[in-house]
Amino acid sequence: MADFHSELKSIAQPSKDGQGCKVFIETYGCQMNVYDSQAIDGLLDKDGFDRARDVFDADVILLNTCSVRELAEHKITSRVGEIRQQRVDADAPPAIIGICGCMAERLGIELQKGKNRVDLVVGVDNYDKLPGMLTHLMGKGKNQKRRHTATGHRTDAHYVAPPSVYPVNNSHLVTIHKGCDYKCTYCIVPYTRGPQTEKSPEAIVQEINTLVDSGAEEVTLLGQNVTAYHWQQELDFAALLESVAEIDGLKRIRFLTGHPKDMHKHTMDVIGGLDKVCPWLHLPIQSGSNAVLRRMKRLYKQDEYLNMVDYAKKVIPGVTFSTDIIVGFPGETEEDFQATLEVLRLVKYDQIFSFKYSVRPGVPAAKLNDNVSLDEKKRRLAEVIKLQDEIWLAEAEEQVGKTLEGIVESAAKHPKDSWRVRTANNRKFVVSNSHQGNGLKIGDSVSAKITGIASTTFLTGD
Ligand code: 5AD
Ligand code: SF4
Repeated sequence: MADFHSELKSIAQPSKDGQGCKVFIETYGCQMNVYDSQAIDGLLDKDGFDRARDVFDADVILLNTCSVRELAEHKITSRVGEIRQQRVDADAPPAIIGICGCMAERLGIELQKGKNRVDLVVGVDNYDKLPGMLTHLMGKGKNQKRRHTATGHRTDAHYVAPPSVYPVNNSHLVTIHKGCDYKCTYCIVPYTRGPQTEKSPEAIVQEINTLVDSGAEEVTLLGQNVTAYHWQQELDFAALLESVAEIDGLKRIRFLTGHPKDMHKHTMDVIGGLDKVCPWLHLPIQSGSNAVLRRMKRLYKQDEYLNMVDYAKKVIPGVTFSTDIIVGFPGETEEDFQATLEVLRLVKYDQIFSFKYSVRPGVPAAKLNDNVSLDEKKRRLAEVIKLQDEIWLAEAEEQVGKTLEGIVESAAKHPKDSWRVRTANNRKFVVSNSHQGNGLKIGDSVSAKITGIASTTFLTGD
């Protein structure tokens, strides 16, 4: 994800306040950050800043960061030191380095202290201040202290990623709300991204209309809890899907991430009934144990989650599932852990994202005794991954010989001259460029017979 910026077309715009200063953005963490980086790009472009090719070409380097786990934060701190050293080694002058995103919000001014201190800290609701802060920083003399911080939550800050600045690709991210009102006890997000605040349905539809006018056929609606979307008690997520589905020219709608508690029967009925809405549900279970779910404050029990999955399988043709899992939450016993494995066997996810529990300062779970040892967390993580690999392989083998249909998404890394294709239910396969005779391009619709499997991707043999 870190180098999405390098794929963007260069912008030839007259310099305004940015005075042709070149900015490079590295993006870490979730899809919300990818969208935010696109929005930052748009804001900077408007003010005459240019896009740098890489960290060496840049006058300003912005790291858009994630705080969800401790390791993610450590990586950013060392990345700051690494960039500085790489520029010294390349005889490049010192650059302005800024931290955006969740780490900026969580640590604020702390990031401007110590060995790997940065020049600029801008939290998730303050990106509109970035061009002005950068202009100010660049105008200062070399010996002057050049440090700036802007953090804190604002309900009015809804940034829009403009298609005029980045090319329309296969699936366009559209953030529908920001923040989160759930307070899962392990999670830092409600503190770094603030309370759930919705974009209006009109603004969302207008944003998608603009994308469609620029050539987009698919959108991915984004939020920490899209299923909890509600506009002034009048319109819920299901109704939003219905409005978006009415947009002429839009062909596919995906969404991320849903909270199992809000995946109501009515929502699933709507998803199943709308052809444009893709049948793939990413619904983090986190743990299969009711005791752990209670301590996590997840607001559902294992059987409720499984009933929801059963209903989805009934009303959403071809539906597939993916999930997030945390192992080694405080007090997680072997029996609790086995309950998580049991859920994997019952649901048969296509894909899981599994993590070792990581204590986040200030969250409610930080008060609990983190009593599962690191070795035990590692063992449980390895076991979860091994079981999932077996489950997926068995499911995937059943697909061999079947024909899948999908949309060309990107060039595949292997084999050479092939494309990565994604089905509506989020399965991936590769086809060669000559698959349909005249060569393929992003957005093309293809169908192919499955001949084998490589990890989570199907092979098609032609
Ligand atoms: N430790 C480990 N994993 C976490 N996640 C969120 N907070 C933590 C934490 N403190 C995981 C959850 C979430 C995903 C985005 O990150 O599984 O769904
Ligand atoms: Fe974090 Fe829970 Fe909100 Fe997801 S629903 S962002 S895990 S607090």
